[in-house]
Amino acid sequence: MRRSMVAGNWKMHGTRASVAELIDGLNRQALPAGVEVAVFPVSIHLAQVVEGLKGVALSVGAQDCAIEAGQGALTGEVSSEQLRDAGCKLVLVGHSERRLILGDSEEQVVRKFAAAQAAGLIPVLCVGETLEQREAGETLAVVARLLDSVIDALGVAVLSAAVVAYEPVWAIGTGLTASPQQAQDVHAAIRARVAAKDAEVAGGLRILYGGSVKAANAAELFGMPDIDGGLVGGASLNADEFGAICRAAGN
Ligand code: 13P
Repeated sequence: MRRSMVAGNWKMHGTRASVAELIDGLNRQALPAGVEVAVFPVSIHLAQVVEGLKGVALSVGAQDCAIEAGQGALTGEVSSEQLRDAGCKLVLVGHSERRLILGDSEEQVVRKFAAAQAAGLIPVLCVGETLEQREAGETLAVVARLLDSVIDALGVAVLSAAVVAYEPVWAIGTGLTASPQQAQDVHAAIRARVAAKDAEVAGGLRILYGGSVKAANAAELFGMPDIDGGLVGGASLNADEFGAICRAAGN
């Protein structure tokens, strides 16, 4: 049985004051015991969030990490070891905003994934197609390529200590959501691709859906057999809405 997970990617949002309010709101949520809940603030708010959510059964993660696990001359970057030291358990790698806007290459994503695991963090590998790719019928090929770049470089076993998030780029922040069936089809294809290499790893792999998840559509999405929870952007900035999404994953 895979334990569901709901992760809130706060992206480049928040000030110390608004983060304090969000922490208060999260502290008031009744979170379901059977769901792993995580939030991903910007790096400079990690300490505040780790401290503020101490009593809550919730993990904290970072939105990105450096291509090297340790310390060194890499101006502007934060390493996975430093994130671990700051109290992180997880880290997003390969979010489409990083791939498409900030130029993270597939090779860099592989290195970040490896660096995360080297420091004992769980990488959440994000994969997804653009609207153009979907309309050209390339969805499964694109997702397979992004997944394979990690499997080919590091071996399929690394996925036993990782999470995959399917995030169609056209559904991110647009209000457009993949239908439960559209998402399920891609999730099933991801699992089948991993299963072709290692059925046990595939069976245990959590695959989250991301792209305009909200309380109103969460239960239907999470009800699909290969959707093991969600990676939530905008709606995770509202504690009550996020709490409701977490509870939808618990039902
Ligand atoms: P939205 O939920 O705002 O569409 O963002 C999804 C996302 O990119 C999470 O990583």
